[in-house]
Amino acid sequence: MAGFRTSIVKLSTVVFICSQSIIFGALANLEKLPLPSPGPETFAFDGNGGGPYTGISDGRIVKYEGPTTGFVDFAYTAPNRPKALCDGTDKATENETLGLTCGRPMGLDFNHRTGELYLVDGFYGLLVVGPEGGLATQLAIGANGVPFRLLEAIDVDEQTGIVYFSDVTALYGMK
Ligand SMILES: *[C@@H]1O[C@H](CO)[C@@H](O)[C@H](O)[C@H]1NC(C)=O
Repeated sequence: MAGFRTSIVKLSTVVFICSQSIIFGALANLEKLPLPSPGPETFAFDGNGGGPYTGISDGRIVKYEGPTTGFVDFAYTAPNRPKALCDGTDKATENETLGLTCGRPMGLDFNHRTGELYLVDGFYGLLVVGPEGGLATQLAIGANGVPFRLLEAIDVDEQTGIVYFSDVTALYGMK
């Protein structure tokens, strides 16, 4: 019975993402979680129930630490990302220089067995970062000699650890 109730609660729980915030909660009790910068593409929870984590337009992957603290910096994709220049910008998608400088994380998902966070970035391809966060390690920028164009979604198979991700266009990219 307890398991049945749990699944009902999960089914009735919805999460909406809009440009400036994550809205999280049950249907009748929505709560808005303000982000430090717009552009959350997706979100994930770590294996300890921490989060949600999301990638935002200024290049940061941020982690929600609860209502008092809000979102805190967790990881980033661009090496030597200048925090003062990048934090808060929403121009990384339209300005290639800024995009390469700051990064633009899109999809992310945890491997719950290892605690690693796998993510895709519009400029830096497929990356992974450990449970402590910081600069993510680049794993791939293309396949079969063809560079990725615009990586979007990612999911880690919990059983095998295999990482699946999508490249949404053959024509257009951020660079
Ligand atoms: C792009 O961003 C860089 C770094 O902030 C800036 O120097 C440059 O003027 C920007 N380019 C455009 C076209 O806005």
